[in-house]
Amino acid sequence: MFNLKEFAKRSFFVHSAYKFLVRLNEIPLNKWSEVHQIITILRVLPNTMLPLPRLFNAYDCVKILNSESIKGDIVECGVWSGGCVGLMALAEKRTGNGQRLSHLFDSFEGLPQPTIKDNEHYDRFSKDPTRLNIREKVLEGELTAIKACVGATKNHVENFLVQHLKLNPENLKFHIGWFQNTVPQAKH
Ligand SMILES: C[S@@+](CC[C@H](N)C(=O)[O-])C[C@H]1O[C@@H](n2cnc3c(N)ncnc32)[C@H](O)[C@@H]1O
Repeated sequence: MFNLKEFAKRSFFVHSAYKFLVRLNEIPLNKWSEVHQIITILRVLPNTMLPLPRLFNAYDCVKILNSESIKGDIVECGVWSGGCVGLMALAEKRTGNGQRLSHLFDSFEGLPQPTIKDNEHYDRFSKDPTRLNIREKVLEGELTAIKACVGATKNHVENFLVQHLKLNPENLKFHIGWFQNTVPQAKH
């Protein structure tokens, strides 16, 4: 007998496998020899919205910091579900001494209302009556979340980084809130 639930489950699997294969096609040709890097990126893929070439780039940036002995921490403004920052921290573990700190900045509530400088995004959101309180000027006025681009909660992100990726929690510094408040605070 035709089992609708089983069919849906299988087609979900086929669809996911198809989507996965399509993404593999994004791997830059010169990267196919870097198997470890590919595997590391695949581990973080469900937790990032970035395309594969950008993830390779993020990994390579950390690799260069280490090969050229450049000091400093890793900072990501907008970590969403933690995939990209997790990748950079894994790259640090693999290509450096694993001591570099990672600073994770995010509201953990998604985007704030856009400003006029956000051009077409401003136009789009300002026409939506459910997303009121548009700011006229950058860095002025109270920010409120507009329920767009919301990633995982802070606890989920931390769990993903520590339990799943096995990163040292002492190297992860969360800065929760709007960038305009948290970035100046973190400077001190
Ligand atoms: C496009 S997503 C980032 C994608 C992420 N880097 C990844 O690996 O997929 C943007 C993130 O920035 C955060 N964000 C955007 N504007 C912000 C602001 N002004 N203050 C704090 N967080 C903000 C959102 O909550 C969201 O998680």
